[in-house]
Amino acid sequence: MSPTPFPGGPDLFRLDPGIAHLNHGSFGAVPVPVQEAQAALRAEAHEDPDTFFVGVADRIAAARARVAAHLGADPDGIAFIANATEGANLALDAVPLAEGDEILVTDHGYGTVVAAAARRAPVTTVPLDPGLPDEDAVREAVLAGVTPRTKVAVLDHISSPTARVIATPRLLAELAARGVTTVVDGAHAPGMVADPLAGGADFWFGNLHKWGYAPPGTAVLAVAPAHRARIRPLVPSWEDGHGFPRSVEYRATADYTGWLAAPEGLDLLDRLDAARVRVHNTALAAHGAALLARIPGLAPLPYTDGLAMRALRLPPGIAETPAGARALREELAARLRVRVLIWPWPGGGGIRVCGQIYNRPEEYERLAAALPAFLG
Ligand SMILES: Cc1ncc(COP(=O)(O)O)c(C=O)c1O
Repeated sequence: MSPTPFPGGPDLFRLDPGIAHLNHGSFGAVPVPVQEAQAALRAEAHEDPDTFFVGVADRIAAARARVAAHLGADPDGIAFIANATEGANLALDAVPLAEGDEILVTDHGYGTVVAAAARRAPVTTVPLDPGLPDEDAVREAVLAGVTPRTKVAVLDHISSPTARVIATPRLLAELAARGVTTVVDGAHAPGMVADPLAGGADFWFGNLHKWGYAPPGTAVLAVAPAHRARIRPLVPSWEDGHGFPRSVEYRATADYTGWLAAPEGLDLLDRLDAARVRVHNTALAAHGAALLARIPGLAPLPYTDGLAMRALRLPPGIAETPAGARALREELAARLRVRVLIWPWPGGGGIRVCGQIYNRPEEYERLAAALPAFLG
């Protein structure tokens, strides 16, 4: 049975109705009340820039407190940042490393996050077969990659291509027991999972602009108390004297309106009932995956329950390279008017579908009916 559409869901967005947006996970989409809140903040800044900038640090602190309450975080233990990529760089800059130390990453890691690790120290890449059956198998594969040189592990909370949880609390605890500092890329977690900081990583960053309904450029970095004094903004700040989190947040003349509008997105999520949104989005993604699984040659991948994204492998020869994946993605967008993530992988790439309150079951049906012709 198809999931019932979320009442009023599509009306909360200004998405092109001619396109099936099945890729919320990549860039999110900003609900209209949040767009309006940000527009009002921009108008205020344009009317009286001096007053706006004089008071902005305190307003950021108030918005941060709202976000901290949502995440279950200590308000002094998180900072607003622009995106997950910035979070990775800030975290890795704060970890003391010596000659010979290495950073563990996995082959599921996000490109710019892995690049941040590689800038800092030599990386060891742990291969994770997308078909690994469960969290235990993933944990064992990661731990098998730890060597005496491994000082830091950078792991996805929820992996981008395969949409599964990698950094479980148990894996993080076992890495900590081996003396490995943990950096978790929670890009997809805020708004998608109920208690994103429960894992207890040393450093964790997540985007509010994906599932938290915030404007683009709105993310947070959470830092365990022991590491906070070592955090430095990537660019010197007027607030350096205040230390984390203000030093990281205040970046001279910049557009802070996305951060200030972030509480509006979380309030909306609360008004809609975040648990109900999660159940609905998960059901939609599962519906999409079930339809795609009927296509010969497509193999559903093991998944973590309760996530609003699901992934399947494509047949051998399809999307094996980044160029091949991009070509298929753009062909689906141009000819079918469906936006979906196609990810490259040797031996056959993958497809990831997302569920969000603006999606309708027919959109996945349209994709599933037409996709075989694109795989020919
Ligand atoms: C797992 C993961 N990490 C990091 C990012 C990058 O996020 P940003 O563009 O906000 O830096 C993404 C984006 O999709 C992602 O999926």
